[in-house]
Amino acid sequence: MKTDLVGISGQKEDTSKEKKMHGTESLNRRGSLNSNREEGRATLILTLTLCNVRKTELSRAAKVFEMLETQIHHFETRGAQKPKNSADGLDIFVECEVHSADVSILITSLKRVAEDVKTSREDKVPWFPRKIQDLDKCHHLITKYDPSLDHGHPGFADLEYMKRRAFFADLAFNYRAGDPLPHVEYTAQETATWREVYRKLSSLYPTHACTQYLDAFQQLEKYCGYQEDNIPQLQDVSRFLKERTGFQMRPAAGLLSARDFLASLAFRVFQSTQYIRHFSSPMHSPEPDCCHELLGHVPMLADKEFAQFSQDIGLASLGSSEAEIEKLATLYWFTVEFGLCKQNGSIKAYGAGLLSSYGELMYALSNKPEYKPFDPEVTAVHPYQDQAFQPVYFVAENLEDAKAKLQNYMMKIKKPFSLHYDPFTCSIEVMNTPQKVKRALCQMKEELKNLCLALENLS
Ligand SMILES: [Fe+2]
Repeated sequence: MKTDLVGISGQKEDTSKEKKMHGTESLNRRGSLNSNREEGRATLILTLTLCNVRKTELSRAAKVFEMLETQIHHFETRGAQKPKNSADGLDIFVECEVHSADVSILITSLKRVAEDVKTSREDKVPWFPRKIQDLDKCHHLITKYDPSLDHGHPGFADLEYMKRRAFFADLAFNYRAGDPLPHVEYTAQETATWREVYRKLSSLYPTHACTQYLDAFQQLEKYCGYQEDNIPQLQDVSRFLKERTGFQMRPAAGLLSARDFLASLAFRVFQSTQYIRHFSSPMHSPEPDCCHELLGHVPMLADKEFAQFSQDIGLASLGSSEAEIEKLATLYWFTVEFGLCKQNGSIKAYGAGLLSSYGELMYALSNKPEYKPFDPEVTAVHPYQDQAFQPVYFVAENLEDAKAKLQNYMMKIKKPFSLHYDPFTCSIEVMNTPQKVKRALCQMKEELKNLCLALENLS
């Protein structure tokens, strides 16, 4: 039994998919990048060993370089030195140039197809976006559930559907930070699918969703075109969120890598798909679609505590190691996607994977699954389930408590630098000089003084 909606951008599942699938068939970076593409390129010296080069390994490795638009300066091969590889093995030396944003994914991808991958850059801090425009480079897709590759996808053999998906992919890949969000004319068939999902799920919300969700959902129905017969536009939703929590949307072509997806949250940007699931399967989608984003994620992003919680996970991910990204993605999975919380003596759902899945929402609040208290140390390493309903859900005391616990957890993540998010410029500053820290502190002091004065006035 598969969960009604998994394939959720930026979670443990993504990371694992990246690891399981890695390399040529799972990695897809389409669309042209803007003229800044030439900026921030990194030169790498790589050594790696390929086994079984007479089979597919050589072409798989070549595909990794090709997908990331790697410029090869020098490529040299020798027969593999290791006895086990002596028959069909090759030791390879590569000098190449790639965009700094792609260094981490290039190395991780090569490790899926080759042995002993070594590089001088590996131990350094992975590239991360410093300003909101840098998110234009954060669109690495994980294509495990792509309808053109996944035989089990409901739209696999439907050429019309794949054509439509290509249209949505182009919208996302052509989008640049600051552009108006693409307006989509949804077809009657797409709207009918939305209607079925909307009707079924909204009947469950009053009893199953947390109050924060219900409050926002009511507002979205009032101001944002949330209706059975209308698929809301990202532009309207983005405007709505911006006014409430500063979150904004940007279009995504599909399931993104955990690193890219989490990085966008650091800027209060939510990468959202715009296409809808295949009409033949309205109650299940193996990958994220607009039903999942609009019904699962958007209402919660209108809540201030939840928005901060989401941004905190994103900030923690910047420059983190692969191992740390995996833990953060797991935390994201068990909270933002499948989180439950206590409310007025009962348990309610706040996770988007639950709130966009009729079957799992019913199941999660039945007496079947096991509940555990949310504890980031435990949750971050807990095994997850990406092909069926979760056997275990983590229950937060409330969203404020979950946020405080997450912040404590994040303070223990070891990084050789500290970061500061500037909400005025929507940029990340690396706190690498005392002057920068003092400047940020001064700004904070002034704000604090104002707030203390406001409190005095009130009392
Ligand atoms: Fe999601």
